[in-house]
Amino acid sequence: MPVTQQQLSYLNAMGIPVWVGRDTVDSAIFETKADRSTVDSIAQQQSVTQLASPNQLPIQNNPIYQQAPSPQAPSSHTAQPPAFSTENLFNAIDQAAPVNQPQSASSIADSLKEKIEKTELIDSSSFDWQQLQQAVTDCQQCELYNKRTHVVFGEGKQNSTWMIIGDAPKEEEDTQGRPFMDRSGVLLDNMLTAIGLDRPSVYLANTLKCRPPNNRDPKKAESKTCYGYLKRQIQLVNPTLILIVGRIAAQHLLQTREPLARLRGRRHTIEELNIPVVVTYHPAYLLRQPRDKYKSWQDLKLAQSILAEVSGDQPKIQAQ
Ligand code: URA
Repeated sequence: MPVTQQQLSYLNAMGIPVWVGRDTVDSAIFETKADRSTVDSIAQQQSVTQLASPNQLPIQNNPIYQQAPSPQAPSSHTAQPPAFSTENLFNAIDQAAPVNQPQSASSIADSLKEKIEKTELIDSSSFDWQQLQQAVTDCQQCELYNKRTHVVFGEGKQNSTWMIIGDAPKEEEDTQGRPFMDRSGVLLDNMLTAIGLDRPSVYLANTLKCRPPNNRDPKKAESKTCYGYLKRQIQLVNPTLILIVGRIAAQHLLQTREPLARLRGRRHTIEELNIPVVVTYHPAYLLRQPRDKYKSWQDLKLAQSILAEVSGDQPKIQAQ
């Protein structure tokens, strides 16, 4: 497809490098679900406006191959966004910048970047439990889907008073498709027992639904991409209190860089959800640092008292 000078200038302004060969753009660059981070990372890797054709990149360095959608057909309700083809992109550019109404390339670039971000994410905000679970099972919104054995959706009492949120599945959870199945899960069970709860009486979830390779920390972009699912889960459970375990989940959900030692021991609220939140150590950390268990116990007591205050009740000591 021929590329106009105007289209090229917007693509460049967006940081989208384009391989140009005799007046044509290599359309394969946009044939996959390339997202902005892919595009940015291509730009960083190449640092030039002319990108080698995908065929010229080694396969392991080529984000196009790493993000290629699997052949599995998307289920109808997950309504995959339209494929981001060259043609769609150029149509969007043409709509955004009619030839006789000149706008600055950078303002067009900003609006197109926003459009790409929006187009890429599945809107799960109105899903019921079944739809949400299906969407998560089918999800290919970030590269983690490539390596997962199972998604780890979350489990427990769907209308529980308590919701417990950790960071991401590890090997054991990836194998079993269930949250907190490793040694830290055993300690979590003990912590719950200590306050009169058990696994079936709470709802357990993670900020990420897929395991990051080698149990690395979730990337910001991954947490951000997955947040829509967690947010919908929180809305569906509608817990009276959320207990966040661990720094990574806490910093992501509370949008802060404060260390865990400063986040624990007080009440927070997740912006836009208006549900009280208590942060405590991740049980995996407590396994390594058992001397901090008493602080976690204080946090659990704090959570109980906030719950009592919010529900105008005494702390519940029986599993609900
Ligand atoms: N750690 C977590 O944060 N979540 C799990 O599901 C398992 C370990």
